[in-house]
Amino acid sequence: MKIAVLAGDGIGPEVTREAVRVLEALRLPDLVLLEGDVGGAAYKRQGHPLPPETLELARASDAILFGAVGDPDCDNLERHLRPEQAILGLRKELGLFANLRPAKLFKGLENASALRPEVASAIDLLIVRELNGDVYFGEKGIRTLPDGRRQGWDMMSYAEDEVRRIAHVGFKAAMGRRRKLCSVDKANVLETSQLWRDVVIEVAKDYPEVELTHMYVDNAAMQLVRNPGQFDVVVTGNLFGDILSDQASMCVGSIGLLASASLAEGDMGLYEPIHGSAPDIAGKGLANPMATILSAAMLLRHSLHLEVEASRIETAVARALADGVRGGDLGGKLGTAAIGDAVLEHL
Ligand code: IPM
Ligand code: MG
Repeated sequence: MKIAVLAGDGIGPEVTREAVRVLEALRLPDLVLLEGDVGGAAYKRQGHPLPPETLELARASDAILFGAVGDPDCDNLERHLRPEQAILGLRKELGLFANLRPAKLFKGLENASALRPEVASAIDLLIVRELNGDVYFGEKGIRTLPDGRRQGWDMMSYAEDEVRRIAHVGFKAAMGRRRKLCSVDKANVLETSQLWRDVVIEVAKDYPEVELTHMYVDNAAMQLVRNPGQFDVVVTGNLFGDILSDQASMCVGSIGLLASASLAEGDMGLYEPIHGSAPDIAGKGLANPMATILSAAMLLRHSLHLEVEASRIETAVARALADGVRGGDLGGKLGTAAIGDAVLEHL
């Protein structure tokens, strides 16, 4: 079992280090971890945010553990050389089209949420975000209009097969949970969303046991803070999913707790915390590694089919939190390594 470890920029290396310690502590036979350069770090060392060797390593692996990319030093580079292109490139090149972002309130964090405890306690949802299409990957540019004004433009589109395959992922996930699927779109304004909605309704015929609802994205943003307990599985496009998943993270207390899986057809997957590289606290040992540790658990579950080991990690994190283990993101004092130690102890 080969796992590519791409730690990347900012706090990426520190949080990834703790997740690797947790994976190693399981003493899985035949587990090989191979490191590669990615993001701004890769640009600085090799001149490209996703060097060919890294892409090859990723392709040759069973799964990828990913830290974070993003580096203010690189913000003025041409877009194709910016660190973010590394994660977008991996998603596209490896066909990682299905992004799973679970959000659940851990016991003991009722008061850490930005929401009232009784509202936050009900959160147990999964955002299924499409990851290979939408305005993220459409044609784009900045052009000069005939009257001399500059205009930025980005093309939003979804083909029906792209919607169909992510809809199936959403329905299947719902079947394994509370059998409720909410499809989020902006069909009152966008044609892309109208097609999205039509196709989701077609796919629903294959899943008569799932209760399907539709919600406009603006309303979904509101409902997510008004009554998040109403959601089981949410399926949505790339851009709306990006925004709603950050919002969901604050509802459960900290973005430092949210893990994600980006899955291809088959067992290949990339696993990363949903937070970014947090340059302001990078290198200080302050970041919460729990989101990355929980991403490693998702890696074991989805790519290696090691459900028992995945649950062990999740239980260890839950117990550490219940025990009062808190980093700065949750108003505590523990640093990255100390939080890793606490999780390892519970493991
Ligand atoms: C995420 C991030 C990325 C995205 C960035 C880093 C390109 O925000 O994974 O949610 O927009 O998808
Ligand atoms: Mg995001």
